[in-house]
Amino acid sequence: MPLTTSAQTFAQAAMALLAGAVLALSAATSCAQPAKGSAGPSAELRPIFATAPDIMEGKRLADVSCARCHGANGISASAGVPHIAAQRPPYIYMQLRAYLQGARPQSAMTGAVKFLSDDALVKVSAYYGTLDPARPAPVPATKSGAAAAKRDPLQAGKAAAAACGGCHGDTGVSKTPGSPSLVGLDPKYLAATMKAYKTGQRKHDLMKSLVASLSDADVADTALFYALQKPARAGTPAPGDAAAGKKAAVACAGCHGDTGVAPDPANPSLAGQDAQYLAVATQAYKDGTRKDETMKSMVAALDDAAIKNIAAFYAGQQPQAPKVRKPLSLAELSERCDRCHGINGNSIDPLVPAIAAQRADWLEQVLNTYHTGARKSTAMAAMTSVLSEGETKELATHYSRQTGRAVTFIPLSSK
Ligand code: HEC
Ligand code: HEC
Ligand code: HEC
Ligand code: HEC
Repeated sequence: MPLTTSAQTFAQAAMALLAGAVLALSAATSCAQPAKGSAGPSAELRPIFATAPDIMEGKRLADVSCARCHGANGISASAGVPHIAAQRPPYIYMQLRAYLQGARPQSAMTGAVKFLSDDALVKVSAYYGTLDPARPAPVPATKSGAAAAKRDPLQAGKAAAAACGGCHGDTGVSKTPGSPSLVGLDPKYLAATMKAYKTGQRKHDLMKSLVASLSDADVADTALFYALQKPARAGTPAPGDAAAGKKAAVACAGCHGDTGVAPDPANPSLAGQDAQYLAVATQAYKDGTRKDETMKSMVAALDDAAIKNIAAFYAGQQPQAPKVRKPLSLAELSERCDRCHGINGNSIDPLVPAIAAQRADWLEQVLNTYHTGARKSTAMAAMTSVLSEGETKELATHYSRQTGRAVTFIPLSSK
């Protein structure tokens, strides 16, 4: 759907009036998808047609039914409760109906809207749209705050990995027999193994001492760095009979893939791995020095020749990059959000929420509910599916710090 079109339509028809921008609305061409079971887009826009007495009545209802949680002026002082002042009225109305119909997860709101008529929902929505927005969250003046905002995980990972290149290769492609390649492995697996060395759950004194000083962030950044390097076969010898190994490896394909590229990130890929490491690791599972019940039973029956052959087979396979993308900068990310949510989160589409000056804790919480699917929205599910935890936090902080702007929508008769 051309998402900017409706925004442009509104923007072209915009008239500057008084303090807030006033946007004229001729046709209901929002990019948002109205809630299922709604009576069509025009029904969603009812709050735009509210009269002054309707808004007065909306205030009365708000004072009685909403203010104790959302604050006297729609500005919430409680974690987990969003600001609703200056929110786009048709969006508020659509959400209230979603709570009423059970389309949004059960929450304090389910009880709050239960006894309100549809007219009451329209009026209270219109009222909140007339209020001034919350003030943006302050930007910390400290140096560390500014530094945290500019953190580049990939650069940080590269820096931390400088100490590892001597054995694992500068870009994670090993040239040292016995040292594994770190390319072609899922970052979750890499991070988990580093932590296992740290805690001693996976026993290796050398690796333990090497990762001991890495923080959780270093571990995540290093794992990301290797996951984004170009995969290539280890530049180490693979003695053993690869053809015989291929036959024996049939038993391993279910988890490690036919050619050693694991379909599930929970299982490490073996393709292109250093043969000596593969053999040593397999032997370690067999004799119990590397503890893993699944792998122990898988390799129990393999003799030394079979282990060597399987290692030669996997070492000869082409490794593949795991499914991870280069992290986007905050500017690149927010540019995508602003396409629907308006400049700096000030939506001019009546059915898309403004997110500028919203509480950061709420933004983060809500992005996570879209991510898990607990709150349903096709647009937001797609947007949040690619966000990492760090990016979600960054975006929440970013939008909480933007200046909120009120928008009034004026219906025009369509010609
Ligand atoms: C008992 C406390 C409580 C009361 C009373 C209450 N709310 Fe809420 N409201 C919440 C909480 C908590 C949430 C977040 C719920 C969630 O996770 O979906 C919320 C969410 C909302 C949202 C969704 C905001 C968004 O952008 O997703 C709107 C709109 C809203 N409330 C409006 C109202 C209105 C209007 C009233 C009065 C009719 C009201 N609330 C009464 C606690 C309350
Ligand atoms: C002195 C050589 C050396 C250095 C330097 C080194 N490693 Fe290792 N690394 C090894 C060896 C040997 C193994 C295999 C250990 C085993 O059998 O468990 C290993 C294993 C690993 C593994 C597990 C791979 C797998 O497939 O399970 C990871 C992850 C790893 N190292 C990360 C790092 C990181 C990150 C650094 C830098 C902070 C680093 N290593 C520095 C030699 C080294
Ligand atoms: C049921 C799934 C499953 C099957 C089948 C399986 N593996 Fe594994 N394999 C795993 C898991 C899970 C791990 C990671 C265990 C750990 O954390 O130490 C692993 C780890 C390995 C490793 C260590 C890789 C590394 O980077 O450190 C090797 C080598 C290996 N498997 C070889 C084999 C061989 C050879 C076979 C067939 C004989 C086989 N596996 C069958 C699940 C499986
Ligand atoms: C394709 C258009 C589109 C894009 C792009 C988009 N959003 Fe949304 N967003 C929506 C719509 C529509 C809703 C209302 C969905 C609903 O009814 O739950 C929404 C809802 C939200 C909400 C809930 C607000 C509240 O108070 O409950 C947040 C937060 C949000 N978006 C943040 C973002 C962020 C951050 C990005 C960028 C990573 C983004 N959105 C990108 C269309 C979009």
